Amino acid sequence: MALYSEKVMDHFRNPRNVGVIEDADGIGEVGNAKCGDIMKIYLKIDNDIIEDVKFETFGCGSAIASSSMATEMIKGKPVSEALGLTNKAVTEALDGLPAHKLHCSVLAEEAIKAAMKDYYDKKGIEYDEELFAGVGACHMCESGHE
Ligand code: FES
Repeated sequence: MALYSEKVMDHFRNPRNVGVIEDADGIGEVGNAKCGDIMKIYLKIDNDIIEDVKFETFGCGSAIASSSMATEMIKGKPVSEALGLTNKAVTEALDGLPAHKLHCSVLAEEAIKAAMKDYYDKKGIEYDEELFAGVGACHMCESGHE
């Protein structure tokens, strides 16, 4: 069996939503200390809907594929759905990732949550801190998450 699914290869070779949103409503950046990969997510939110989402990922193919799939999964959706997106759902949508690459999908979940937190902070919207527990912490100086 191939190490990577066709979906992973497709999203790696033709990533969707790559780029920057200049006037983003929320920006989230996370990294993994072990592999050194960094992911940045930009959100444009209007009326509680994710109108647009873009990403920049400086990392491995699985991280790029995870970012691409995750952005596709939340684009046009209510913010509540973006908040509920899990790395498990991203991995399943990609038809799986090798075990040692699961942390790449965790980056996608965390980058989106970090961007949502930034959006709430900028807008002065109150939220339950628990929602973002551990997200946006500096993973660059902590141990990685696997
Ligand atoms: Fe670290 Fe993929 S190897 S994000």
